[in-house]
Amino acid sequence: MVAPVKQPEAHIPVLRDEVLSSLSPQDTDTILDGTFGAGGYSRAILENSKAVVYAIDRDPSAIITGRKMEKEFDGRLHVLEGCFSDMEQLLATQGVSTVDGVVLDIGVSSMQIDQAERGFSFMNDGPLDMRMSSSGTSAADVVNNYDEDQLTEIFRNLGEEKHAGLIARAIVKDRVETPFETTKQLAELVERLLRPFTKASKKKGKKKTNPATKIFQALRIYVNDELCELERGLEAAKKILAPGGRLAIVSFHSLEDRMVKTFLLKESGNTPRGSRHLPDPSASTTSTDKPAFKLLKKGTIKPSEAELERNARARSSRLRVAVRTEEPASSTPKAVEVSI
Ligand SMILES: C[S@@+](CC[C@H](N)C(=O)[O-])C[C@H]1O[C@@H](n2cnc3c(N)ncnc32)[C@H](O)[C@@H]1O
Repeated sequence: MVAPVKQPEAHIPVLRDEVLSSLSPQDTDTILDGTFGAGGYSRAILENSKAVVYAIDRDPSAIITGRKMEKEFDGRLHVLEGCFSDMEQLLATQGVSTVDGVVLDIGVSSMQIDQAERGFSFMNDGPLDMRMSSSGTSAADVVNNYDEDQLTEIFRNLGEEKHAGLIARAIVKDRVETPFETTKQLAELVERLLRPFTKASKKKGKKKTNPATKIFQALRIYVNDELCELERGLEAAKKILAPGGRLAIVSFHSLEDRMVKTFLLKESGNTPRGSRHLPDPSASTTSTDKPAFKLLKKGTIKPSEAELERNARARSSRLRVAVRTEEPASSTPKAVEVSI
C-alpha cells in the first residue's frame, strides 16, 4: 500500500489580533507585510480595512499563494518576491516611498516546516536544505564543507548550543565516510551525542525538547542569513515609515527578540544608562539623539492562553510594537551592530 502523502498544515497566523490592533490600519493606509507566508496578516488587514497592502516573501511557494490571493482583493494586495531587507527597493519598483505600517513575522511558516522536502524539520526526513528562497548555500553545503571551528561558531552563536564543539567535531569526523544529505542523518547524530546529557536533564525534571532543535535552528538562521536580514529590515523600516506609522515585529526566539528590543530601546531613546556616574544618553537634546520611534508598549505582547490552546506553535512568540516619530531617519542614532 502506498503511504499517504503528508499534506502541509495550514499556517495559523500567530498573535493575529494583537498584530492587527497594533497596526490599527486605516482605510487610506498603505501597509507593508514583509513576511507574507500564507498571507494571514495581509488578509486580516485587508478584511478589516480598505488599506492597500504590499507583501514581500523570499519563498517562491509563498508568492504562488499570494498571486491567488491578489485576485480576491481587487487591486489592494501586491505581492513582491524578495527579501524584506530590500523593502525600500522593492516598494520603489511599485512607485511607493513611504508606508503607514510595517509588520514582520520572523521565522518559518508551518508549510515550510511540514514539507519534508524543504529540509527544515528533524521530525520529517528530507534533504538537508533549509533555504527559504530555494537558492544559494544549503544546510548540507554548510555541514559538509565548513571546518570544525566554523561549525562550532554557528552552533554556539546561532543555536546557543552548549555542546557545539562536540557536535561539530563528530560531524567533521563522520562526513569523511558518509556526507550528510538528509535531516534524519543529522538529527540522529545529534540525538546520539546528546543522549547522556538529555538523560541527566530529564532526571532534573527539565522539559523535554528534541536534542536537535538548537542545531537545526542555528543552521536555518545561518543559511537564510536571518539576523542580518532582521538588522537591515529594521533599519529599512525606519526609513520607509511615515511619521505616526506603526512597526510590529513578531519573533520566536531570544536572539531575534534581543535584536528587536535593542533596536527599539535605542531608537526610542530608552537606552539603559551604563553607569549612574555617566550622563543619561536618553536625556541628550542634540538633534542627532532625537528618537525615531516611540514605544507603543514597553516589553512584549505574548499569546493568550486561548491562542496557545489553539496553536502550540505560538508558544515562544512575542510581539514588540513602536510608532515612528517625525524625526528624519538620517539624523537618528544608528542601531547597535549585533555580531553573530
Ligand atoms: C512565520 S511565516 C509568516 C506567516 C504570515 N505572517 C502568515 O500569517 O501567514 C514567515 C515567512 O516569512 C518569509 N521570510 C522569512 N525571512 C524573510 C526575509 N528575510 N525576507 C522575505 N521573506 C522572509 C518566510 O519565507 C515565510 O514565508
